[in-house]
Amino acid sequence: MAAPRTIAIDGPAGAGKSTIGALVAERLGYLFLDTGAMYRAVALAARQRDVDPDDAEALGALAREVRIALGPPTVRDGRAYTVLLDGVDVTWQIRSADIDRIVSQVARVPAVRDAMVAQQQALAARGRVVMVGRDIGTVVLPDAQRKVFLTASAAERAKRRGDELAARGQVRPRQELLHEILRRDQLDSERAVSPLRPAEDAVVVQTDGLSVGQALDRVLHVIARPRA
Ligand code: DC
Repeated sequence: MAAPRTIAIDGPAGAGKSTIGALVAERLGYLFLDTGAMYRAVALAARQRDVDPDDAEALGALAREVRIALGPPTVRDGRAYTVLLDGVDVTWQIRSADIDRIVSQVARVPAVRDAMVAQQQALAARGRVVMVGRDIGTVVLPDAQRKVFLTASAAERAKRRGDELAARGQVRPRQELLHEILRRDQLDSERAVSPLRPAEDAVVVQTDGLSVGQALDRVLHVIARPRA
């Protein structure tokens, strides 16, 4: 069997897509592309330039104008990759609570999505890529050789988010995190354009109660298996 050259991993916020996706890419020697970071970078650019997150036209123009680059880590500070916005390292800035709050609004704008999807497809055309997001298997790479839909219960995802923040010295109440996750799930699943849903040919991997190593093994197993 020829090795799969494009791997799509989709799923809701906090399902572990970035962690697992980065590990899969490392294991296979593929490029790792976290598309959520691109939407986050557009949201940050909107904040920096005082663009109203409700102004779809201005957001579309902004998404076409900014230069977003994702690459291997440039600093050894726990990051899985480096994100540059117009040449400036914004890897941690795009993870702030402020960006968490507005990013779904930015990501639902069709012109923003068109600009990001075009870049994602251009990057994937080179092959050997693990791309993670919400619409990779359905819209960005419908012909991906392998599609995984990684998911976990909202309670589990809130717990993981809390642990991740705590590791960075930020303590947030679990209830508040759960509330934010449910709100983002709703916005991501109910939006008109490219809503979050598994592709028909995706394999769903439920990760409640699994360690990172166990979830990684399951995903690698799905990837290694020839498709029916
Ligand atoms: O995965 P994340 O939490 O970093 O994603 C940030 C936001 O971007 C989230 O609201 C969903 C959205 N997103 C999207 O609409 N399509 C993608 N391919 C990736 C992320």
